[in-house]
Amino acid sequence: MIRSILILAVALCGISSAGVVTAGEAEKLIQLPPASLARWYKPANERQVWLHNMFKLRRELQAVSEYIALEDGPRLAKWAERLVGHYRRIGEMVPEWRDELEFQVTDELRQAAASADFRRAAKAVRKLGLSCRSCHREYRTTAALLYRTPDFGKVRVEESETLEELTYKQLMGRLSLLLNRVKIASEDERKSTALASLDELGRRLEDLGQSCAQCHQDEVPKQRILGEEGRGKLAAVRQGLEAGDAKAAGRGLGELAVYTCARCHGVHRTLYDIRRELEP
Ligand code: HEC
Ligand code: HEC
Ligand code: HEC
Repeated sequence: MIRSILILAVALCGISSAGVVTAGEAEKLIQLPPASLARWYKPANERQVWLHNMFKLRRELQAVSEYIALEDGPRLAKWAERLVGHYRRIGEMVPEWRDELEFQVTDELRQAAASADFRRAAKAVRKLGLSCRSCHREYRTTAALLYRTPDFGKVRVEESETLEELTYKQLMGRLSLLLNRVKIASEDERKSTALASLDELGRRLEDLGQSCAQCHQDEVPKQRILGEEGRGKLAAVRQGLEAGDAKAAGRGLGELAVYTCARCHGVHRTLYDIRRELEP
């Protein structure tokens, strides 16, 4: 079975560009799921087919366990059939994983369920649980990162004055530049530059806010990051600048950076960065 393998240097600086592990860095091997898994996720698929099969498996495993405990043979047999069917689907969807599946155990479970042998069924369920866990230990996190983490590489943001289409990366560079320009100009008492840069920062954040709706149907996430509170921080910086109070302006900028930038980075940027590192 061919699997892509990625060597991660787990150090503060992440993966060294040359892929060489230097002194003080640790190294960890991460298995990536077979590429055929992508077919069961967006955009290749309309629905989250893989994930829904997994949710069914968990529910069926629970039902089977409960009917074993209740010693209810007919219901046990019904749910065992479903469980086995969806377990088999794993190998149909990702053929590379067929060899990892425990069909002996599922045969055992079906027979035990059909003959209402609850002890034998319980034993098979425990073994099946190990099969779930062993695959999850290796692949669950990487699959979620690769196939369900929002991809900002394709998102474009229109700059309101120039109508230029910016990538997220370009816009982010702009935000960072403006934020620091306000700080530098404020410290050096270049008030008009500081104020003009702050205004532009506010406009770029408004532009950024237009992009949320490309994925979010509701306003709540946008309001949390770029709503009233965020605008309040911008206003506080402006007040500080106008009063010539560099300290107050600096405090406002710090709060803006934590409230608006760091919060969104905690939700979106870090996961997107990891996703990109994992992508083959
Ligand atoms: C051969 C690999 C494999 C096997 C075997 C497997 N799974 Fe999964 N499972 C995955 C992968 C990969 C994910 C991650 C999917 C994602 O997050 O998009 C997952 C995710 C899940 C999830 C969602 C997890 C969450 O908390 O969001 C559930 C529930 C689940 N599996 C249940 C089961 C059960 C129950 C079994 C055993 C009967 C099982 N799986 C067997 C690969 C497997
Ligand atoms: C490429 C798609 C995409 C874009 C663009 C995007 N998000 Fe998200 N975001 C998601 C997904 C998917 C989730 C997780 C599920 C959910 O909450 O919808 C999420 C979750 C969040 C959350 C955590 C959940 C919550 O409701 O508090 C916040 C906050 C958030 N996004 C803020 C934003 C903001 C602000 C923007 C625009 C500046 C934005 N996102 C743009 C896809 C995206
Ligand atoms: C959607 C929520 C969101 C908000 C709000 C946000 N960022 Fe980002 N930021 C991202 C994402 C996603 C990336 C990764 C983009 C990429 O690498 O393509 C990123 C990347 C960056 C980068 C790295 C760019 C590079 O060249 O690699 C910087 C710098 C940055 N953001 C600064 C800021 C600043 C400063 C603010 C606040 C004024 C801010 N961001 C607000 C989501 C956000």
